[in-house]
Amino acid sequence: MQYKAPRGTQDILPGEVERWQRFEEISRRVLSNYGYREIRTPIFEQKELFLRAVGQETDIVQKEMYCFTDRKERWFALRPEGTAPVIRSYVEHALWKDRPFQKLYYIGPMFRYDRPQKGRYRQFHQVGAEAVGSLEPLVDAEVIATVRQLLEAAGVKKVILKLNSLGDAESRGKYAAALKKYFSGKRESLCPDCRVRLEANPLRILDCKVPECNELSRDIPPMEEYLSPDSLRHYESVQRWLTVSGVSFEKDKNLVRGLDYYTRTAFEFHHGELGASVALGGGGRYDSLVAECGGPDTPAIGFSLGSERVLLAASQDSGGEADDGGAGKKLGLYLAWLGPEACEKALGLAAALRKFIRVEMDLEPRSLKAQLRQANKLEVSHAVILAGDELARDLAQFKEMTTGAQEEIGLANLEEFVKTKLNVG
Ligand code: HAM
Repeated sequence: MQYKAPRGTQDILPGEVERWQRFEEISRRVLSNYGYREIRTPIFEQKELFLRAVGQETDIVQKEMYCFTDRKERWFALRPEGTAPVIRSYVEHALWKDRPFQKLYYIGPMFRYDRPQKGRYRQFHQVGAEAVGSLEPLVDAEVIATVRQLLEAAGVKKVILKLNSLGDAESRGKYAAALKKYFSGKRESLCPDCRVRLEANPLRILDCKVPECNELSRDIPPMEEYLSPDSLRHYESVQRWLTVSGVSFEKDKNLVRGLDYYTRTAFEFHHGELGASVALGGGGRYDSLVAECGGPDTPAIGFSLGSERVLLAASQDSGGEADDGGAGKKLGLYLAWLGPEACEKALGLAAALRKFIRVEMDLEPRSLKAQLRQANKLEVSHAVILAGDELARDLAQFKEMTTGAQEEIGLANLEEFVKTKLNVG
């Protein structure tokens, strides 16, 4: 019997995993430079949390959640997204007491029962961040600028930023009524799901994946016309700050996002490689979620990027070349040895050298020629050869793999020599 990874999941194999590590490193660096601190929450949560936070009428809750009961018949769900868990944790641990304005980030797998295709998986990964505790439009602009910088640092060059405002609860109520009116004449042409949405939550029609429904949504009245004066001022302010920060954007009146917790600012980053229906990432404001999860009334905004999609776009934009840290990756030593005594010496040296550099060595006896062939394959920059008379005199050969140049060194000084020569340690 041969087993396969479940449909919609993928193994990230050595060779590919280095690009992931690099992207995660870049994300950590950019996010901590913007003042975010990491938070790690469980992979599964009470199912109810997502029903409440993400919304009963969303595709995520209705069609895409992996739900299960445990041995005590309690319902859980594999997390389909990271915002609700972070806010659950923020409330559970009263994080506002530590800092009234919290900037938190997370990196990890998410799960949605989606139809697998390019850039769409059932287990995928997100890098996300949440800025909790401010309603300032400048915070919105900073969050968006952070995503832009993160994408740029990851090697994604050609992005389109789409922006909309969903207003506050009052504006959205008025807009929902306007949409209901707009779509009611077109009811019969809507898909069965959207006919239900028309009654329960008309904004969700704008997020429908059925092309006919998209077509019908083209001429909807713009949300902007229904924004309360407060929400409109907020939206205009966000746009002004984005312009001041040099972040270009396109306004998109049809952008509602696939989750129900959004208020005011909503945004998405798109890329030509992925097509219009597949965003690199997105986010927005969710000013009522903290209170809905049992915390104090606290405005917040955040974003998530899909790691698979960012890596796809980055490889397209940088000509297929992975941003894997370049030459740094190859810096390493191969310890070649001949005979049991040399093996013993090599083991001791490897342990000492591995404190500051990658060291490869064969553990099975092989000819020096075979070992040096292996060194080439492993793409190390240098080799140390321990063998014969030289070893008896506590000497070794230090070899530069690209040029083939060799020099004799004393084993007593090997550590210092490697540190200076390779500029490590
Ligand atoms: P989202 O738009 O549902 O937002 O997901 C964010 C990103 O996750 C998407 O733009 C996409 O790159 C990636 N993604 C989503 N589903 C899949 C999938 N099936 N396969 C591959 N990638 C996928 C959220 O999750 C919000 N929590 C974002 C947020 C944070 N809003 C405020 N704070």
